[in-house]
Amino acid sequence: PVVSILELGGVKIAKDDVVRDDPTNNVPDTIFSKLGMQLHRRNQHPIGILKNAIYEYFDTNFSSKFDKFDDLCPLVSVKQNFDDVLVPADHVSRSYNDTYYVDSQTVLRCHTSAHQAELLREGHTHFLVTGDVYRRDSIDSTHYPVFHQMEGFRVFSPDEWEPSGLDATSYAAEDLKKCLEGLARHLFEGDIVKFGKQLKYVHHFEYLGYEFNVKENWLEVLGCGVTEQEILRRNGRPDNVAWAFGLGLERLAMVLFDIPDIRLFWSNDERFISQFCSGQLGIKFKPFSKYPPCYKDMSFWINESFTENNLCEVIRGVAGDLVEEVSLIDNFTNKKGMTSHCYRIAYRSMERSLTDEEINDLQWNVREQVQNKLNLVLDE
Ligand code: PHE
Repeated sequence: PVVSILELGGVKIAKDDVVRDDPTNNVPDTIFSKLGMQLHRRNQHPIGILKNAIYEYFDTNFSSKFDKFDDLCPLVSVKQNFDDVLVPADHVSRSYNDTYYVDSQTVLRCHTSAHQAELLREGHTHFLVTGDVYRRDSIDSTHYPVFHQMEGFRVFSPDEWEPSGLDATSYAAEDLKKCLEGLARHLFEGDIVKFGKQLKYVHHFEYLGYEFNVKENWLEVLGCGVTEQEILRRNGRPDNVAWAFGLGLERLAMVLFDIPDIRLFWSNDERFISQFCSGQLGIKFKPFSKYPPCYKDMSFWINESFTENNLCEVIRGVAGDLVEEVSLIDNFTNKKGMTSHCYRIAYRSMERSLTDEEINDLQWNVREQVQNKLNLVLDE
């Protein structure tokens, strides 16, 4: 029985436990449900805000315009994902253990580099590709099997490097470094950012892995390098040289917005989402509790001296930081002109689950104090 089929870019993929015709499909429900979410296209989401901030850097600092792509289908062929960027046939990243296969010839892209070749062939020489990428990996606070990358690619022609007296590769490498240092300054402004350089071997090619050093922490956020000549040669640019980088957006966003756990990016919780604002990179995330709230309602006829602030002070006096919110949920005036209020108190700990018993005791104390200190008679 077909429960759910998603069609993306003309390719159909079936959900986890559906009977599939292709045994090579190893995309589980958890991953399936992330397809099409496009966090990077939400202007109010940290990933979208960061994307736009990087766009702004490229728009204002370069004379040649970078073409931007953020809607390329994450389902790509094995050829696009691996062959086109020269991943050896026996490389471990091609395994079912490392990559999500939809069928034997189609994968969920494991990097935005999967689009380099086609964009080059279409004639683009300066481009940025942003998208969701997928890797089977261990999970901790900075690793998640779906994340977002931005690929940068810039092609140079001989009339650009020749006057410099440098060879083509050194020229491109210098330019890449300048470009990334400028980007780091643009994003981090006041924060001290140092730049590290390490030779790393990831996937297929050797490339320079730059790290940003932000507030004493080294953070590996991108891979980059001067592109192998073979990629340019195969895609119609035999006489050029190019650099490329692949930036991990979550890692950067975690530092920029003080987001402590990578799972939060996928949260639909208003308390997360509502903290961010389109165009604002400087906002620091304020953690909220992951434990469930407990609600208690309380109603009474108010008197002349009643104020909400007084009520809140009394409640906080009893419950301390266990009270998360006090809200007026009903407000009603009768014919005699008496007004009744119903308040809902949300109790929630930042550190632990509260027991019913504890909350009932608290609520009992709160009621008693409210009656005594505010001279109110509470309804049952
Ligand atoms: N595609 C590489 C990765 O995902 C990153 C990268 C992009 C490295 C471009 C070099 C050039 O790990």
